[in-house]
Amino acid sequence: MTVRFPENFLWGAATAAYQIEGAVREDGRGESIWDRFAHTPGKTYQGQTGDVACDHYHRWEEDVALMRELGLRGYRFSIAWPRIFPEGAGKPNPKGVDFYRRLVEALRGAGITPVATLYHWDLPQALQDRGGWPNRETAYRFAEYARYLFETLGDAIPLWITLNEPWCAAFYGHLTGEHAPGIRDWRAALAAAHHLLLGHGLAVRAFREVGVRAQIGITLLCTHFAPATDAPEDRAADMRYDGFVNRWFLDPVFLGTYPADMVRLYGDLLPPDLIQPGDLEIIATPVDFLGVNYYYRSRVAHDEGAGPLRARVVPPTGPVTDMGWEIYPQGLEVLLCRLHQTYGNIPIYITESGMAARDEVGPDGQVHDQERIDYLRAHFRAAHRAMAAGVDLRGYFVWTLMDNFEWAYGYSKRFGLVYVDYDTQRRIPKDSAWWLREVIRTGEMG
Ligand code: FCB
Repeated sequence: MTVRFPENFLWGAATAAYQIEGAVREDGRGESIWDRFAHTPGKTYQGQTGDVACDHYHRWEEDVALMRELGLRGYRFSIAWPRIFPEGAGKPNPKGVDFYRRLVEALRGAGITPVATLYHWDLPQALQDRGGWPNRETAYRFAEYARYLFETLGDAIPLWITLNEPWCAAFYGHLTGEHAPGIRDWRAALAAAHHLLLGHGLAVRAFREVGVRAQIGITLLCTHFAPATDAPEDRAADMRYDGFVNRWFLDPVFLGTYPADMVRLYGDLLPPDLIQPGDLEIIATPVDFLGVNYYYRSRVAHDEGAGPLRARVVPPTGPVTDMGWEIYPQGLEVLLCRLHQTYGNIPIYITESGMAARDEVGPDGQVHDQERIDYLRAHFRAAHRAMAAGVDLRGYFVWTLMDNFEWAYGYSKRFGLVYVDYDTQRRIPKDSAWWLREVIRTGEMG
């Protein structure tokens, strides 16, 4: 059955600064926590770093031309805080702003709507040295950085996103230590999570104060959780995991409260002075839209030994991607409908969705990534069903424009619509990119 998407649906692709830009020491860019982390032995796959990545900092014109050729209508990128404030605060670096101004002008010239994320995990190392996100001060520095960009680039960018996946920044960064800054501590992680949210709220307030003629939202990782079995203890474990990953961020932003069951569960891990009077009002400052990053389903089992959550994710039984993530498109539909029911009729963009595969350039010089086409088609259909059910979905950004530095996995995971040959920096659009171009051009999909 053919499905049709609205005329003005914002189809695009997403990237993040540290994953594609390279040029980490150029034009006055300061060090970020990801530079430090990736250069620490044992932290990333084969010690790989974002030093060069896709060299997008030098090849951005070619990359914008490519996006135009692929018919993208929107492009979600992130701004590297250490390019704008090399020391995290203080004096801005005009060369950093110029880079993004040129990029935004080129995108607009190509008829592509720029969508900017202010924080996609590359905190200036100078702020980490003063305690990073577990330190409340970082939220205020973030708001200052955000305000500066609203004043300089505000009206040129129609859609602004404060944070990308604060759950990952807080918990991969400060609980599991898989991501920068590589800390392993529940209290630090919960403090980081609160200060990220506080920074978000302060930035939204700054946006309104500056009077930017554009819209602002936040991007959250939204995972579809399900109990591993029907047993009551697995159902309860599933609720806790959902509280940990989804509700801990959605509730404060859209309801102005932290979920009571999780506050009880965390208990002493939340020190009394962490959540200060007025913080939740700031965090709940109304946004214009929600950005949803959806990748997979996780099934959860009760596990008494698994830390404060007493729950663990069990291995998937269904088909998985090259990340080992379960392919579960129905989860996107269920999740979007649930967001709509629980948090009201908020406009939503899918700001990331996509899969890693073992893509290779074939003898014909092309990349035949049929499994990615199947993945995207199934997820687009799920999104379409949610729209038919009343969800105000405004756009869909595939993760990612081109293969890039996949954090701790380095260059070993390929998520791109476009293949990158890292030896030559040659870009080769995969079959999925040409397929997506047709979906965008016709507005329909069989
Ligand atoms: C998301 C991140 C993005 C990328 C994808 C695969 O969690 O936002 O940068 O790593 O996963």
